[in-house]
Formats: sequence, structure tokens, C-alpha cells
Amino acid sequence: MTKTEIKKKITKFKLSAIELTKIFPHPSKEEVNIALFAGAYFEMNSKDLNFIVGPSGSGKTTLLKMIMGIEPLSAGELLLNDKAIPLLKGKEKNQFLQTIGYMDQFPARYLSLLLSVEKNLDYSLLLYTSLQREERKKRIKSHASTLGLTKLLNQQTITLSGGEMRRLALACSIIFEPTILICDEPTAQLDGKNKTMILSLLGKIQQEVNSLIIVSTHDQSILQSHPTYEIKDRRIHKW
Ligand SMILES: Nc1ncnc2c1ncn2[C@@H]1O[C@H](COP(=O)(O)OP(=O)(O)OP(=O)(O)O)[C@@H](O)[C@H]1O
Ligand SMILES: [Mg+2]
Repeated sequence: MTKTEIKKKITKFKLSAIELTKIFPHPSKEEVNIALFAGAYFEMNSKDLNFIVGPSGSGKTTLLKMIMGIEPLSAGELLLNDKAIPLLKGKEKNQFLQTIGYMDQFPARYLSLLLSVEKNLDYSLLLYTSLQREERKKRIKSHASTLGLTKLLNQQTITLSGGEMRRLALACSIIFEPTILICDEPTAQLDGKNKTMILSLLGKIQQEVNSLIIVSTHDQSILQSHPTYEIKDRRIHKW
């Protein structure tokens, strides 16, 4: 059994929400506050591809930010393997953020467009791991192969198509093997073929790595039979 196989066998991640509540104060003091959800319970596991759905403005991105510990909870708890997600400033929070892979809805917001695909992947490894050059090269080769980027490694990122850029963004957010992989609307603005490709890559990643994967979408055509949590009527319902 390889080291990765052993890690996958013994490490499981579980995210639990207990009475989770998010309320934004209304900008005008006379108006009632805006409750996105109140008293929500759910549990997500690293053996699944977990989806969060809900219409625009329902609170999907807000919930993802709460899971990353960058948006305060109004009440309740979010626990990772029964330990509260740190919402502190400073060292503990930075250490926690180092364990999170985040694929933003707009990949160009954080890829270095003028650098090559390979340099973007290497940059992610340099930031999040202490791997030496030869090990980083091996890791890049393996992830490029999984995500269909091998032929694009020397290409300048700005020249990639929308679907290719999404695949690079996904590779950059998973290459350092984070504890939690968060993908905010990873298929937005993609055509059917590219949507299917991203979805099957997420499935493949879920088989190969140990991360807890959480994906937000308002595209119900991509859900299949994965565990799905819907934000509706100020609750988070499991389908
Ligand atoms: N810091 C904030 N202060 C006040 N309101 C906020 C804040 N952040 C988000 N909101 C509001 O909370 C609601 C939910 O926003 P959020 O971005 O989570 O929605 P979403 O479900 O991700 O939508 P979309 O599908 O369009 O991405 C929105 O009405 C938004 O304006
Ligand atoms: Mg959003």
C-alpha cells in the first residue's frame, strides 16, 4: 500500500453544523436584519462529493466562507472532526487557512495570467508545502495528468480557454492536498461538455485524495446522486 493509500484509509474528515445561523444586520437600522439561515444542522464527510445548492443570494458563498473561517457565525457551531473551526486572527487562523484549497468562481482572480501553467502549479506548492524541487516536479506531473493539463504545462495562462483555466484553478487548489477543498460555482459559464469534464474530475479527485470536498452550484443539472444540501426558507435541507 502506498503512503497516499494508507493516509486515505486512516484519515477521514467530518464537518458538522450545529444550530448554524447567519444573519447580516440590515444597513438601515429601522429595517429587520437579513437572516440567511437559522438553526441549521448538517454533516458532510470526506467520502462524498458534497454539494450546496440554492438560488442566487441564498447564502452559498457566505456558507463556504463560514466553513473557511473567514466569515463569522451569528450563532451555532461549525466543527471539523469535532473541533471548532478557528475564527481567530493570527497564527491559528493562518495555519487553518493553509489547509484549505479554494477554487473561486472567477479563476482569473487568483491565477497569475502571465505565467505558465506549470509556474502557477509550482507557485501553489511553494506557498502551501515545503516540498523540494524534484518532489514538486513529480507532484505537478501527476496532477497535470489527472486534470488533462500535461500538454498545456508550458503554455501562458492567459492563452487558456475558459474550461482549461477552470481545470488549472482546480489543480492549483488541490495540488497541495488540502484538508478541505471548496469549489464555489466551478461550472459557472461553462458549456455542457466542460461542465461534465469538471464534474468527472471532481469525482476522480474525490476518489484519489482524502480532502473533504464541498461544491456550491445553482446548476441542478450537475448534481446526480451526490449528497446535496439546499439553502431554502432559512434552513439547510439535505436532499
Ligand atoms: N458582508 C455582508 N453584509 C451584508 N450582506 C451581505 C454580506 N455578504 C453577503 N451579503 C448578502 O447575503 C446574501 C447572500 O450572499 P451570497 O454571496 O452568500 O449568495 P450566493 O447564494 O452565493 O449567491 P450567488 O449564487 O449569486 O453567488 C446576499 O443578499 C448578499 O448581498
Ligand atoms: Mg455565490
